[in-house]
Amino acid sequence: MSNSPLNVLAVVGSLNKTSVTRVVVNRVASELAAGRCRVDILDLLAEPLELYNPDSAYSSATVLALQARVQGADVYVLGTPDYHGSISSALKNFLDHFWHEFTGKLFATIVASHEKGLTVTDQLRTVARQCYAWSLPYGVSFMDGEDVRDGEVISESLKQRLEMFVRDVHVYGRLLADQRRMDLSGREAGFMARLRERESTDT
Ligand SMILES: Cc1cc2nc3c(=O)[nH]c(=O)nc-3n(C[C@H](O)[C@H](O)[C@H](O)COP(=O)(O)O)c2cc1C
Repeated sequence: MSNSPLNVLAVVGSLNKTSVTRVVVNRVASELAAGRCRVDILDLLAEPLELYNPDSAYSSATVLALQARVQGADVYVLGTPDYHGSISSALKNFLDHFWHEFTGKLFATIVASHEKGLTVTDQLRTVARQCYAWSLPYGVSFMDGEDVRDGEVISESLKQRLEMFVRDVHVYGRLLADQRRMDLSGREAGFMARLRERESTDT
């Protein structure tokens, strides 16, 4: 197992100034940073991303500035509110911009919802599958008011789910990051093989 820190990009996918998604993503980010993770937080309210346009996105200064941060991550902690059973447009926009960076990496998802956010979690798993990423076999969902209030996680049950989530990001993030590197530097067939050429020209 590698000794290098696990690189995590934690994305806050709510533009709400008093977002509960932000509270939970920030808490997870600080717990991961307290372990052996190098955590970068991308809060889309503080760092807005223009609407994805395939003709202009890859020459945009904002996108180019973010590219290395997204590329360097082994794990994406993705936080979103439930909007009509779906993910927020802010998070979808992020995913549309950087879909080609996700192959072989881990999605770990957090949803603020009044209805357990199952359809939202499923949609994030669909994006993971489409982009050849892995996802944890569950997502954490929670409810504002009941689990988070006044900027704090208040329920014991959410605290316990987050403890499990942080542990699983460490363990499965590490396993997948190590395997991804081995696959990229090896010669065996496998779904990562098609990335070898691109990664070797990037570095
Ligand atoms: C446009 C919009 C659509 C929403 N749709 C749903 C929904 O379908 N199901 C649900 O449980 N909550 C829905 N909500 C409630 C939010 O998911 C909920 O308030 C969440 O905690 C907001 O998270 P945030 O504070 O991080 O933005 C919706 C809220 C908005 C603004």
